[in-house]
Amino acid sequence: MPIMTNKANILVIGSSGQIGTELVKGLKARYGNDKVFAADIKPQPIDDGVVEQLDVLDKEGLFALIKKHEIKEVYLLAALLSATAENKPLKAWELNMDGLFNVLELAREGHLTKVFWPSSIAVFGPTTPRINTPQTTVMEPSTVYGISKQAGERWCEYYHKRYNVDVRSIRYPGLIGYQSEPGGGTTDYAVHIFHEALENGTYTSFLGAETRLPMMYMPDAIKATIDLMAAPSEQVKMRSSYNLAAMSFTPEELAAEIRKHIPEFRISYAPDFRQQIADSWPAVIDDSVARADWGWKHSFGLAEMTNDMLVHLGKKNKAGVLS
Ligand code: SER
Repeated sequence: MPIMTNKANILVIGSSGQIGTELVKGLKARYGNDKVFAADIKPQPIDDGVVEQLDVLDKEGLFALIKKHEIKEVYLLAALLSATAENKPLKAWELNMDGLFNVLELAREGHLTKVFWPSSIAVFGPTTPRINTPQTTVMEPSTVYGISKQAGERWCEYYHKRYNVDVRSIRYPGLIGYQSEPGGGTTDYAVHIFHEALENGTYTSFLGAETRLPMMYMPDAIKATIDLMAAPSEQVKMRSSYNLAAMSFTPEELAAEIRKHIPEFRISYAPDFRQQIADSWPAVIDDSVARADWGWKHSFGLAEMTNDMLVHLGKKNKAGVLS
């Protein structure tokens, strides 16, 4: 991807997390190292780049960082995910909501020109149609995380309509990548399974065999995020958040796909409290609005993602033969 002109300096908050680690690299590749700054409550260097220490709940610290680096665009990724949030409901609400307000307020005050904030399939709930879940539908989330994401979507749209804040958002499905580990989500099994398959040849899934959930390979998610932020403002018609999809599969189907590369791989099932969360979420998402509005298109399905994960996790050579 060639380096493109983007005058704005960018800050990624939550750069040590699952999405942040890869998004910082993606943004640097697109816009150049000198345009992209990273911050996290627990800084971890990315490709030897400097990462600032920041608690997004510290509004003054956030403002100081934005001034220091003349930041104009923020990607706010700091959040507690669905499973962790069930164990720490009030902490999750505080971080997920107040972090968003701190950034939206800085944008309203004119310090930022653009904001990205991630939503999730968790905004949907048990009363939502589970198959081909439309962009606009019943939303009665039953998890703390989902409630915070739904409220966040409402606030994003409100800040856009009332204060003209240019905020953009995606409802990510479960994300799968080889560069970073997920932390505390219900879809994490789809990453862990690859590590366990390669290291031990077995995996015990905390979701049942037939639990179908929407998923996406990280390169698609990073591309979608950067493309949405680069789209002309008038194309971004949804200012709550966009449905986004690539594939949907069950643990059993993913295991079968892995077995095409590692025939001896075995999976067993021991569903825990995360099963109930997964059962409240959609199985297949309709993302036709994102495709029509700003040209979203995925590249990776189940077979391509599985192959690429195994290649990059280093146990397979490029010819596709296990070493
Ligand atoms: N992957 C997230 C989770 O499982 C959903 O946004 O919490």
